[in-house]
Amino acid sequence: MGKFIVEKSEPLNGVVEISGSKNAVLPIMAAALLAHGSCEIMEAPVLRDVDVMCKLLSSIGSKVKTKYENNSIEILTDNVIAEEAPYELVKKMRASILVMGPLIARTGKAKIALPGGCAIGARPIALHLKGLRALGAEVKEGHGYVEAKADKLVGSNIYLDFPSVGATENIMMAAVLAEGVTILENAAQEPEIVDLANFLNKMGAKIKGAGTDTIKIEGVSELHGTKHTVIPDRIETGTFMVAAAITRGNILIKNVVSDHVKPVIAKLKECGVKVEDSDEGIRIIGNIRPLIATDIKTLPYPGFPTDMQSQFMSLLATVKGSSVVIENVFENRYMHIGELNRMGANIKIEGRSAVIQGENILQGTQVVSTDLRAGAALVLAGLIAEGTTEISDIYHIERGYSDFVEKFRSLGAKIVRIED
Ligand code: UD1
Repeated sequence: MGKFIVEKSEPLNGVVEISGSKNAVLPIMAAALLAHGSCEIMEAPVLRDVDVMCKLLSSIGSKVKTKYENNSIEILTDNVIAEEAPYELVKKMRASILVMGPLIARTGKAKIALPGGCAIGARPIALHLKGLRALGAEVKEGHGYVEAKADKLVGSNIYLDFPSVGATENIMMAAVLAEGVTILENAAQEPEIVDLANFLNKMGAKIKGAGTDTIKIEGVSELHGTKHTVIPDRIETGTFMVAAAITRGNILIKNVVSDHVKPVIAKLKECGVKVEDSDEGIRIIGNIRPLIATDIKTLPYPGFPTDMQSQFMSLLATVKGSSVVIENVFENRYMHIGELNRMGANIKIEGRSAVIQGENILQGTQVVSTDLRAGAALVLAGLIAEGTTEISDIYHIERGYSDFVEKFRSLGAKIVRIED
């Protein structure tokens, strides 16, 4: 297993290009299972999670070809040979659940192994199952797996009690081949939902309203192959924005959709960071004035993303004043706080809130990456901490960031990956 060694670095400077979105490409790859014909997915990020999804699709019977020279993935599923997501793959990546909707739509059957609770909360799938049941599937929850069967799926009105991203995606992917119309209310509105709907519509689906809280899906009898370019990763974008701010640097971030990172931009500005949005990209300038505290509440899109909460908290530990962060999306997403405090931060947890007293001098030490975004937060803290920060369990970080070390090094960060 590898480790990152991070040394206190100069303010980051230069240009960085954002990769395709992890959370967009995973459902899009799963949706390719619905096509009679080949799908080419372009600008796919090179990541561990994408690798796991390639393996999962291959085990189901898809022919998956990765073309690294132009970051594209070709998926062709002539025959489904196993309507199943096995435990070995699901335990590596919870997003494996996303093959459930496409499998039941295409074959009338799906069986998915269930992982135990994960680091950032229980992450139940009750809403995914509620949606599939409403479409007419018979769902059986066994020990460690869930199985769904349907002779045919029929469109329905479905209200989600919470705008779950995964449930919206799974239901949308099942409903595209259902008989009649499905109306999905209180749907998630994340940009990744819109990207998935655009992909499905290119395959011949009839989806309207993606990106709002009501999605209308008119079922069709068959979907065909297509080509699609994945949207840029808004969480990778946000991570580099915070990297520029925390090091009081100046970087230009290219291949971004600034609308997708509006809440992060708003909060950076409240802290005193200068943000310039142009056709070239987003420039983040962190050294114009001393940075100050701000408060954050995570919410479903277009609110502040839970996936940026930990990285932003590292920044708040370095600014003047005290900040309050409230995590509303996941119940246990504060695992990084213990590690940041070990580096000298002063953060107290009170229920869903975290109170951060800023302006502490952070000190490098040995820390553990407890999940993907928590790991990124520790790297950001390591860039401004005195001495050396050694981060273990970096496989979490490599699940979701493409060319992580290379991109940071190109901006002047002192970070290396070593084998344990
Ligand atoms: C997706 C993202 C993840 C992000 C999250 C929230 C992918 C691959 N992952 O995860 O990076 O942090 O959205 O923006 O896209 N919930 C239920 N019942 C359900 C489903 C979810 O109660 O059936 C709850 C969860 O426990 C959680 C909240 O809803 O508290 C949000 O989860 P959800 O939007 O489903 O997140 P994911 O799709 O798992």
